[in-house]
Amino acid sequence: MCGIFAYINYLTPKTRHEVLDLLVNGLKRLEYRGYDSTGVAIDATNTKDIVMLKSVGKVKVLEDSIAENLSGKEFDEPVLIHCGIAHTRWATHGVPCEKNSHPQRSDNDNSFIVVHNGIITNYKDVKTFLEKRGFVFESDTDTEVIAKLVHHLWKMHPGYSFRELVEQAIQQLEGAFAVAIKSRHFPGECVASRRGSPLLVGIKTKTRLATDHIPILYGKDDKSPPIEKDTDSAKPQVLPRSESTSEFMPLEEKEVEYFFASDASAVIEHTNRVIYLEDDDVAAVRDGALSIHRLKKCTDDPHAREITTLKMEIQQIMKGNYDYFMLKEIFEQPESVVNTMRGRVRFESNSIVLGGIKDYIPEIKRCRRLMLIGCGTSYHSAVATRQLLEELTELPVMVELASDFLDRNTPIFRDDVCFFISQSGETADTLMALRYCKQRGALIVGITNTVGSSICRESHCGVHINAGPEIGVASTKAYTSQFISLVMFALVMSEDRLSLQQRRLEILQGLSTLADQIREVLKLDLKVQELAKDLYQHKSLLIMGRGYNFATCLEGALKVKELTYMHSEGIMAGELKHGPLALVDDSMPVLMIVLRDPVYIKCMNALQQVTSRKGCPIIICEEGDEETKSFSSRSLEIPRTVDCLQGILTVIPMQLLSYHIAVLRGCDVDCPRNLAKSVTVE
Ligand code: M6R
Repeated sequence: MCGIFAYINYLTPKTRHEVLDLLVNGLKRLEYRGYDSTGVAIDATNTKDIVMLKSVGKVKVLEDSIAENLSGKEFDEPVLIHCGIAHTRWATHGVPCEKNSHPQRSDNDNSFIVVHNGIITNYKDVKTFLEKRGFVFESDTDTEVIAKLVHHLWKMHPGYSFRELVEQAIQQLEGAFAVAIKSRHFPGECVASRRGSPLLVGIKTKTRLATDHIPILYGKDDKSPPIEKDTDSAKPQVLPRSESTSEFMPLEEKEVEYFFASDASAVIEHTNRVIYLEDDDVAAVRDGALSIHRLKKCTDDPHAREITTLKMEIQQIMKGNYDYFMLKEIFEQPESVVNTMRGRVRFESNSIVLGGIKDYIPEIKRCRRLMLIGCGTSYHSAVATRQLLEELTELPVMVELASDFLDRNTPIFRDDVCFFISQSGETADTLMALRYCKQRGALIVGITNTVGSSICRESHCGVHINAGPEIGVASTKAYTSQFISLVMFALVMSEDRLSLQQRRLEILQGLSTLADQIREVLKLDLKVQELAKDLYQHKSLLIMGRGYNFATCLEGALKVKELTYMHSEGIMAGELKHGPLALVDDSMPVLMIVLRDPVYIKCMNALQQVTSRKGCPIIICEEGDEETKSFSSRSLEIPRTVDCLQGILTVIPMQLLSYHIAVLRGCDVDCPRNLAKSVTVE
């Protein structure tokens, strides 16, 4: 999805060149989110004007355009106070082209310019309202209404501060958004806000910050009547101004730099001190001071926003010696699975403590059912662990795709426990499903990889999977860590069940050797690359398995689709004779997972059904299983582990296979076409 990056320096001299480098670098850090065009805006050199540059395609194109168009001696002169904004756009309204790229402007003079993530659902009404007042629109975007609405309010209320204008404007907007706004009338200032789309503020000072909190300033608790649909009389109602008299008392530093960014990876090389903004926060930087405002106070609102210290390291968001983030992340799995278990699984005492949910375990044990809800790969981690959760919790476990769950208006009860699984913690469908369940009184458990994310903040309790930043759009290490987090939860739930102790011990034993076994599987890389050479020119790949490995089939097929643009389907082997067998012949590529677990005989039946139709499957089997291997000339052998953990080992060859096929097909591995890392629109 789109990425916002804004940089404000106050009494910390920077040349415009340096500012541009910072902005472009910020955009590069956000590239992984997925985008199709870019843009940047800084102050012009001689006047109060603003210069904007926009381009279609990669950040590199923008960088080259900056080198070509924004150079000269004046760009090397230091500026003491400055605000620059930048954006990567993932098209929703209007095709990717310069005119639709951000920043979007209010007028030819760039009175107000906006970078925006998300969708303004009532933009047509706002546009009609503004057109009737003489505004001429130049793009196909929903974003342009924001710049023009702020401009309109500025003309109506000359005495208002920049922050007040934005506050008034966003009250008129519906939908989900994050915005950062710059103005030629308020040089050196920046105002940002969010509703449903992530945004954080990074703070960099020379000396240690004197505070860990920024107080929130509130306005009056009045409601702004929205702009009505297409009526001439419709106009944005002016809201009461903030009650606060001293607007900018909160954080005042002598020399300070601020960053607004869609996620932490864009700021970590500058500062580890950040504030995660909440929905409807309006953050304003003026004269080196940061203030956070809300228009109305709810009873359970905190008085301040906490300044948190990021634990992330810069190396974690660098590719190192790898060609792609995805490959790096696949090879990080021996460490990431250990990090997920670190401090939680105590192998000496065979015990597990999940600090984030331990106080809720009695309540969870009393629940009516467990619901596991997510999208894409996160949903597959639920499919992968459902059987074990049913076995160890002895509760009904429902597994749901977040989007479908909402479409169905699924009945939810107060005694349901709903798990929301999300790497980013920002997936709109998952977040909407969370809010739906929360409103109905269910207990909300978040399973996320992103500290400070919306799902993390809105859950009652949860488990951080601690996989480390995942940059490749294709989820890999997050999947195995989600898997382990859910296994750990199952183990916690069965701690006091005598009849389950033997089973728990074998799973704990399996967890203790997992990292080494993953290292063994990763050694198959060259062999997998050879298999990829056989497959990459085909149009389709069927992946079959059942039981604990069905999730690997779904996840493997998703990886193949998203990375290679080849058709691929994960097939429950038990369903083969109910239809998919018709696809099998001597030319259809098939991969089958056949492990020595309780469904081995059934998988062997499926294998025979395939080979007797002249199918030549690639087989994933256990090390040394000569009998199974004999059914094919191509196989990958993986180490033996306990049945419920097999899926962690079988998914890794699928990750590698999709990676190698993508490279051979010349696809952009880290940023597949049309996809985004965190899907913040429904
Ligand atoms: O951030 P989330 O885990 O909520 O994301 C959910 C899906 O969008 C995500 O897993 C997607 O399917 C991946 N790109 C698959 O590799």
